[in-house]
Amino acid sequence: MSSHAEPQPMTARKSGPLTGVAEIPGDKSVSHRALILGALSVGRTRITGLLEGQDVLDTAKAMQAFGASVNRLGDGEWTVDGVGVGGFAEPEGVIDCGNSGTGVRLIMGAMATTPIRATFTGDASLSRRPMGRVTDPLALFGAEFAAREGGRLPITVTGVAEPVPVRYVLPVPSAQVKSAVLLAGLNAPGQTVVVEHEPTRDHTERMLAGFGATITTAETPEGREITLTGRPELRPQDVAVPRDPSSAAFPVAAALIVPGSEIRVPGVSRNPTRDGFYRTLLEMGADIRFENEREEGGEPVADLIVRASALKGVDVPAERAPSMIDEYPILSVVAAMATGPTTMRGLKELRVKETDRIEAMAVGLRANGVEVETGDAHMIVQGTGGKVAGGATVATHLDHRIAMSFLVLGLVAESPVGIDDAAPIATSFPDFVPLMRRLGAAL
Ligand code: S3P
Repeated sequence: MSSHAEPQPMTARKSGPLTGVAEIPGDKSVSHRALILGALSVGRTRITGLLEGQDVLDTAKAMQAFGASVNRLGDGEWTVDGVGVGGFAEPEGVIDCGNSGTGVRLIMGAMATTPIRATFTGDASLSRRPMGRVTDPLALFGAEFAAREGGRLPITVTGVAEPVPVRYVLPVPSAQVKSAVLLAGLNAPGQTVVVEHEPTRDHTERMLAGFGATITTAETPEGREITLTGRPELRPQDVAVPRDPSSAAFPVAAALIVPGSEIRVPGVSRNPTRDGFYRTLLEMGADIRFENEREEGGEPVADLIVRASALKGVDVPAERAPSMIDEYPILSVVAAMATGPTTMRGLKELRVKETDRIEAMAVGLRANGVEVETGDAHMIVQGTGGKVAGGATVATHLDHRIAMSFLVLGLVAESPVGIDDAAPIATSFPDFVPLMRRLGAAL
């Protein structure tokens, strides 16, 4: 969608202490999956706390196009009347997944083992991203693909009538690829197995179990092996979506680096496959308290109390990358304000996100007076000990997380920091700007 919107330039200025309560929207990963599994169940799934960002709205529209009935009852409150596993109808139009890699990859998986044809498209950013990582394993089930050169969108998928189950060892640590294979495995007879060397976010596994599928996870010498029994009848569920730790990362980071701040962030997911950023912040010396730890919607959640802190640079190990893959842009902003260097390794996947995030962060940070070293899969940010010059405008390349990261940097830089386009923020965190202003941010 952002490809059609007018660019919205925005500037962030040095701000006084941030205070108050930050109500974070629903988790993006869980929201996509709730809509897709609801559509693959027989009967009515009720969702509360759904993220109403453009990425998720595009998935809701897609589920409607495949024959499910998707309805919004109120703020974050939705119902999905599903068509059952194997029940997708052939969509009449093209499926536009906008900016969302998760949306397009999961939906391709969900339809690949049903004998229908669908064409997928997306915005300029999504059309540059690699899709071979999902079409390769989905072809093993028997699905066929016609893609643009390099396996890029638009792609037409011809689903297979008599799929065979698959055993697939993930060549890249990607929850999207894992999930695409598992969703395809739903309509294949027998057992579909996915093996991952590094654990990635496990929302699909948790939610499949919640919807009544037989799915097991075992730690083996080869890695984490997930086995799904095909052709279950999925039972509709009430899904309470936890708040997104990846979105919470932005106000949390801002409160840590803007002197005198103290904010409360209620109900954030503490799923251990998503908490690498928070573990890293604690190592840097962050004052974060986790209160009222509980379970909501099958996920552990807690309230966060965050106070401005003097932070020191750290080494972030490569093994931690899958549990904080979306948080490196904002971590590099926090690192710029810390004392000493922060080294981040295992970042290869950042090259194929909404934009090349190593490049986008390095260019933007350098323009604002921060020293950054980069390599194919690593980045070293030299902390300034709290004095970032600022003064430059940064290109966000249709990437919501680059946009939010540089707006946070502007809250502490000596001179204002600009971004060329704030519109992409609506893909994941539509309320970001008003929420930050309520806390006291000068945006
Ligand atoms: C996601 C997985 C990650 C992440 C993305 C959401 C998901 O992508 O970056 O924002 O919901 O499965 P990869 O699977 O490509 O690492």
